[in-house]
Amino acid sequence: MLSASEIRQKFLDFFQEKGHAIVPSAPIVIKNDPTLMFTNAGMNQFKDLFLGNAPAVNRRVADTQKCLRVSGKHNDLEEVGHDTYHHTMFEMLGNWSFGDYFKQDAIAWAWTLLTDEYKLPKDRLYVSVFGGDQQDNLPIDDEAKTIWQSFVPADRIIHGSKKDNFWEMGDTGPCGPCSEIHIDLRPDAERERTAGKDLVNQDHPQVVEIWNLVFMEFNRKADGSLEKLPEKHVDTGMGFERLCMALQGKTSNYDTDVFQPIIAEIAKISGIAYADGTRSAIAMRVIADHIRAIAFTIADGQLPSNTGAGYVIRRILRRAIRYGYADLNLREPFLYQLVDVLAAQMGSFFPELVKQQELVKKVVHEEEAGFLRTAAQGLQRLDQIIDDLKGDTVDGAKAFELYDTFGFPVDLTALILRERGLKLDMPAFEAEMAKQKERSRAATKLQTDDWVEVHPDHVEEFVGYDQLAAEVKITRYRKVITKQKSFYQIILSHTPFYPEGGGQVGDIGYLENADERVQIIDTKRENGQIVHYAAQLPRNVAYPFNAVVAADRRGQTAKNHSATHLLHAALRTVLGTHVEQKGSLVAPDHLRFDFSHFQKVSDEELMQIEKLVNEEIRANNQLEEYRNIPKTQAEEMGAMALFGEKYGDTVRAIKFGNSVELCGGTHVSATGTIGLFKIKHESAVAAGIRRIEAVTAAAAENFVATEMALLKEVQAVLKNTKNPVAGIRQLQDENSKLQKEIEKLRAEKAGGLKDELLASAALHGEIQLIAQRVALDNGSIKNLIFELRGQQDNLVVVLVTTDGGKVTLHIGISDALVSTKKIHAGEMVKDLAAFIQGGGGGQPFYATAGGKNPDGIDAALNRAKELMQTL
Ligand code: SER
Repeated sequence: MLSASEIRQKFLDFFQEKGHAIVPSAPIVIKNDPTLMFTNAGMNQFKDLFLGNAPAVNRRVADTQKCLRVSGKHNDLEEVGHDTYHHTMFEMLGNWSFGDYFKQDAIAWAWTLLTDEYKLPKDRLYVSVFGGDQQDNLPIDDEAKTIWQSFVPADRIIHGSKKDNFWEMGDTGPCGPCSEIHIDLRPDAERERTAGKDLVNQDHPQVVEIWNLVFMEFNRKADGSLEKLPEKHVDTGMGFERLCMALQGKTSNYDTDVFQPIIAEIAKISGIAYADGTRSAIAMRVIADHIRAIAFTIADGQLPSNTGAGYVIRRILRRAIRYGYADLNLREPFLYQLVDVLAAQMGSFFPELVKQQELVKKVVHEEEAGFLRTAAQGLQRLDQIIDDLKGDTVDGAKAFELYDTFGFPVDLTALILRERGLKLDMPAFEAEMAKQKERSRAATKLQTDDWVEVHPDHVEEFVGYDQLAAEVKITRYRKVITKQKSFYQIILSHTPFYPEGGGQVGDIGYLENADERVQIIDTKRENGQIVHYAAQLPRNVAYPFNAVVAADRRGQTAKNHSATHLLHAALRTVLGTHVEQKGSLVAPDHLRFDFSHFQKVSDEELMQIEKLVNEEIRANNQLEEYRNIPKTQAEEMGAMALFGEKYGDTVRAIKFGNSVELCGGTHVSATGTIGLFKIKHESAVAAGIRRIEAVTAAAAENFVATEMALLKEVQAVLKNTKNPVAGIRQLQDENSKLQKEIEKLRAEKAGGLKDELLASAALHGEIQLIAQRVALDNGSIKNLIFELRGQQDNLVVVLVTTDGGKVTLHIGISDALVSTKKIHAGEMVKDLAAFIQGGGGGQPFYATAGGKNPDGIDAALNRAKELMQTL
């Protein structure tokens, strides 16, 4: 039996022999594409090639791609674990032709690989072809059908609907008819009873799709219409885990060696054996699936957070924790313990897992501990809800509050209620949920018009490394409308504008000709194109323009970008080579750099880092820029490959002295230009990730000047110009001495006062009343009252002060009097408060009220005496 690794390797070897370049998987987290958060298909990284926005270096490519289907058009999350063949994260084996071979070879190779190489039984395979669609005005895919007929008997070929046999990545983008290959893994007896053909695409767990061959011909536009692509392409995707199931003779993906080691570990941790058909088995499958999604995304640089892609990951993580909590009795963090097993198992093919192993564990552990803490708070709140409950059904809005403020999952709420014989109003919960979704949808709604072609030219060149201005033409533009505003996106024939990327902000500037000037407010890269953002469109878009970048801003940004490289190198020298970039922002006025490191960077280390960077600046190292060199050459020069970044076959390397980085950003021509580097702040971002914020050049000078001015001011105030720290220490010492002195005096004063007050007590029947103004602070009065009411058991003490600028009334009552219940300090204080125009309340034995009318104090004290008469 082939192991999972052997199965993967065989696929890659087969297509390599057929002239395909084997490329690495793209990161699972997608940056720079507003339409997609995660890679959901092998073809994502080639989208530009299909659309013709970029030329293909290799026309035949194959790989295994890490995919995540948890959001957008392709979302399998709810199925995961409950069935045996859907996953959040899975590997997609794929082969591609970019304008090279088409249906004939794609079909023949797929068939040969499955039946001759992997030796899957032919009589268990079914294929489908696109059956046509009226709305899109597309015919049946007869070409594919004819080719299939040379391999497969006609009764094994199925016509599929647009839903199953016309593949689209999202609402817009490249698409085309497809042919799927399905396998029937049922036992023979069952196969005889029901024909496999009738179960294709019927969600049968043992009659499943394993391979999809897409014949890309069209681009779906925003208005819903289809436009022919410049060339025809092939995009195939085979579900690796399902292939393993078929080849290893299993009926569940989870029974293959892809998942078994993880499941075994979960069984060990929970002390529960994996037995199919039980709730705990579902939980184990959910967890085994989710830990892969979590570990791979974190390793690719996406940390759990409260927004966007980070939030999706947080939700998957919490889903896993909650299954563990509810069905496996796991009340302590456990997921992080699975990371080692996963890394041992998959790390040789996906080295990022091993490199990031410690970080992934830390992050997962912290998330788990945090969630379990919130869950504990949620449980308390739920107890309270149950205590206050009238009837046996908890309101959906309450469950929603738990979910929304404590992140407490509704199925856990339902489960706990069920265990206590209570019910949850689920429709009401869902209504609340729908309301919230509508709120967030309305907030982010974006409407994009189709591109309007002006001077068609699909490949746009960036000339901004060498020029800050260029004569350009507008090739196309479109209007985008969000809830708050509308703007235009403009594509140019070539451009000096740097698009946001690699942490560096996008350029701003303007387009100008003799007639007009239009400001460019931002520049970003989308789908391989450089998109210029403008609030307005030029009146005449067809005219040529001078495109001019705001040079000062670019210059400052370049200083910060080069300084970021020097900082990265210095961090590795001072802290160690475990330091890796985890994120960066390079703006004109400052830079921010996030990196892996497990403890706070000490002040000495920060000083050393700053010193090293400034030495490199003074060394005035010249920029050595290597454009379009092979990645291997850059790595030989010492460039660090960053996981989670996607690179083409050639890269750009930036070298300043000993610092070498793969980088697409803009830089200074020599480090001396940076002038000065100052660290402003060091902090934690997440478990195992630190952040440094710094400034360079004029901003650094300003920073130093402001700090110096502050210091001067401090020295002047302290009148101690030599050593302000000693001056402050001396003040602190004096202050604490004085504080002690004050406390002593207050105690003495209160002690003396106590005797005076006791002497002033007047008898009203059984009760002794003390009602006086006192010149004490509120804290001392409270102490005094507690001493008094503890000393005698028939005392009512009413003390009033105007300390702190307002009137405060304190009432204390001896316990013996309180227990007769004749008199209640809280109620009494409300009565008296009316005289001082205030309000208050408190306990039966002690209460206070604040007011703003000192003229009413005497009346309040008289009222106290009056009240005594009524008792
Ligand atoms: N793009 C197709 C899919 O994801 C084939 O790779 O199924």
